[in-house]
Amino acid sequence: MEKRQKNIAVCFPFKKEDVNVFARNIKEALSHERVKDVLLAGHSENETYKGIKAFVDTLSEDERSRIHIFTQKRIGSKRPGKGDGMNTAIEYFVKNTDAEYLHFYDADIKSFNKSWIDRVQKRLDDGYDVARCFYPRAYTDAMVTWNITRTGFAYTWPETILPDIEQPLGGELGMTREITQKLIVDSLVRDASDWSIDTALTIAFARYHVKLYEVYIKEGKDHKLYGKLSDLETMAVECFNIIKENKGLKIDTSGMVYEKDRVELVPAEYKTRVAFDIEGSIKEFKEGWSQEMMEIVKRYFPEHISQKVFDAVHGADYTFMDIDMWYEVYDVLMEKFDFNIKAWRRVLFKLWVLRVLNHAEIAIHDPDRALEILHRMIKFFRSRRLSKV
Ligand code: LAC
Repeated sequence: MEKRQKNIAVCFPFKKEDVNVFARNIKEALSHERVKDVLLAGHSENETYKGIKAFVDTLSEDERSRIHIFTQKRIGSKRPGKGDGMNTAIEYFVKNTDAEYLHFYDADIKSFNKSWIDRVQKRLDDGYDVARCFYPRAYTDAMVTWNITRTGFAYTWPETILPDIEQPLGGELGMTREITQKLIVDSLVRDASDWSIDTALTIAFARYHVKLYEVYIKEGKDHKLYGKLSDLETMAVECFNIIKENKGLKIDTSGMVYEKDRVELVPAEYKTRVAFDIEGSIKEFKEGWSQEMMEIVKRYFPEHISQKVFDAVHGADYTFMDIDMWYEVYDVLMEKFDFNIKAWRRVLFKLWVLRVLNHAEIAIHDPDRALEILHRMIKFFRSRRLSKV
């Protein structure tokens, strides 16, 4: 009967969400026989927060007693965002609950149901310290994951398992209490108050040599996609910056256990689904180039790249940023990028847009080849760095 005891806390960090979808997910978590506490970590007392509070008032007394709703504290020194929410929840879990496991799920997932909790928890019950989800994703989705994070891990820590992690930015994961106790005193994690939190957690897990399992959720994460790539500008920049900031960190994962589910065939619809507005993104790429941004491109990047970038701004080819050129760009960014200078942040975004447009052009005509190139990009970054270090 041991397994039946209530020993899991589920947390949904949230900001602006569809209250109906979110309420359904809360119900789903509450209905799980092992879920003791449900933590709702809100960004602020906004409309969603009020809507969810009103929903909580309609629940039974037993359900209400298991819900903990709070707003996030100011913990890190970066932009106050998702990281403060997760860190507030982790601290709350350690100090105010006695569940053994903490799970996180995004609040907006329409395909979420309590079997996800079982699939994550199964691995924790098997003895893994951390279990995180990965999904089939549109071949034009996950563009920060591939071109910023996995490439960044391959560039910075080529000898580790970090570049092999499928979804290092994924927000659905479970961990033991022991891990949460480490996280609340880990300054790298505590400081990551913005979109860098998922990367910070991934780095932390590698540093703790956790036993890590990646769980494949084959039905996919049905959630809101984005419009133009500019919706991801802040995320791309913040995710790059944390890797650059920590490039001197030594990480050795040779003692770490890392397993993941085998991926069966990816459903055909994911291959051809376009995850963002390509035309709108091209237009955005061309707009808003300041003199300072132009100067950065000219001064720091090799001429064969800067010339192509300037030509693209004026409407020529904008699909040239292949994986070889992206490596050259990444090399410069790791050396010279300055997060405190707005023009640098915008340049990074624009160059990333070019990388995504190169990929999207291939993906539209030959999705399998496009995916193969993404995998090749990680290998290429890794082998280039291994031959250097
Ligand atoms: C990524 C973001 C877009 O994984 O979800 O790249």
